[in-house]
Amino acid sequence: MSQSPAVPHPAPNGAAPTGDGTPSRRAPWPPDPFSYLDGRLCVGGLPLDEVVADTGTPAYVYDLDAVAAAYRRVAAAFEPLGARVLYAAKANSNLAVLATLAGLGSGFDVVSGGELVRVLRAGGDPEACVFAGVGKTTAELELAVGHGVTVHVESADELDALAEVAARLERPARFAVRVNPDVEVDTHVNIQTGHDEAKFGVPVAVAHELLARAARGELGGLIPVGVHVHVGSQLPDPDGVAAGARVGLEVLEAGRAAGLELDWLDVGGGLPVDYGGGTAIGPERFAAALATVVAGRDVRLAVEPGRALVARAGALVSKVLYRKHRSAGRMLVVDTGMHHLLRPALYQAVHRVRPLRAAPLAGPTEVVGPICESTDVLATEADLPDLAPGELVAFLDAGAYGMTMASNYNGQPRPAEIVVADGVARVARRRETWEELLASETATGASVAAIQGPAGPLGW
Ligand SMILES: Cc1ncc(COP(=O)(O)O)c(C=O)c1O
Repeated sequence: MSQSPAVPHPAPNGAAPTGDGTPSRRAPWPPDPFSYLDGRLCVGGLPLDEVVADTGTPAYVYDLDAVAAAYRRVAAAFEPLGARVLYAAKANSNLAVLATLAGLGSGFDVVSGGELVRVLRAGGDPEACVFAGVGKTTAELELAVGHGVTVHVESADELDALAEVAARLERPARFAVRVNPDVEVDTHVNIQTGHDEAKFGVPVAVAHELLARAARGELGGLIPVGVHVHVGSQLPDPDGVAAGARVGLEVLEAGRAAGLELDWLDVGGGLPVDYGGGTAIGPERFAAALATVVAGRDVRLAVEPGRALVARAGALVSKVLYRKHRSAGRMLVVDTGMHHLLRPALYQAVHRVRPLRAAPLAGPTEVVGPICESTDVLATEADLPDLAPGELVAFLDAGAYGMTMASNYNGQPRPAEIVVADGVARVARRRETWEELLASETATGASVAAIQGPAGPLGW
């Protein structure tokens, strides 16, 4: 993104398109829809202050054209491997985002019944969905099996629970074993998932045993299809994902040797984003690393990118409430915080903060939210102008793990979500109201029947 008001607007999605419309692999990655035009921060060519004028702030703004461009580039990178792209819905499960990706042919990686109903509502094909997560409930397994979703099983007990559900529903259920490959990657400790102390998946020996049970015919209604691995997020290079894939492949081959017809090798997500605004390692490098692992192995490969498809496409727009001057320096209090963007508090993440109106910079500024926690600091040293109450700022690269991690802590409603496509902005989700925060409670208590609404068509 350019800071200069004078720069011309970049090509659509910030990517240099090739002749066939596919973004070039030398284009900035991920594509950046935010840039200054005539001193105003714009998204997809629209001034952001106009985009949020109706909803007010705080508001998440996502550029769907940038999401689509990112998806196309990942899909094109993995196309020579015949790999399936399964978008990790946990990164951003806004219905408009999911519908955009479903419309492009993406499958989905979900980790809860709630994510699955969102994908279904957005028009996603359940047969192109996988369901991971260490703590699936019976109701969630029923929902998944009922819709033909492939379940990525993470424990022996879960496999028994899945077999019970499949038998009761009289629906054959496809499953893959999530293997913990004991691969440690150099990323924030909270997003390392493939080392042997992580809670995810089962150790290789247990994976062998689960597949052996299937080979012995002990899992009647279940159809084993292969193996799932996910070593972590925001990976510094493709080495970890390749190492994880190698371990997964060994388990898969062992299952084949035991007589099973296995071909599903899902290597998870982890494609990174440069939160400093630069270009990250592109999906082509990940595809190349995996190509050497799966060459000649006759597997159906799948990848589960989350962040790389949506992070740069989104910003959180917020209003300055107050200025504070302390001995430590300048501080701005804004109308959003860790309850809407948890990443700085949870991962010490640094998001770029930009004024919606370009102005001379006034020096490092701490930007804090209204939450009564010392960790409610969104930026420690943002380079900002001397902003006054009422002026707007945008936290960039906030399209992934932003709204999906938002909470109502301190009695705060969650932000609106606005989507931009083809030069038009639409409200995809209105801001929560105080009334909605109270909707499922009574002060006096009531029976469940009195307080619970009717089940929806999916039975949730
Ligand atoms: C199983 C699984 N797949 C995919 C992802 C997506 O990771 P990323 O957003 O880093 O691509 C995650 C993230 O936690 C995950 O747990």
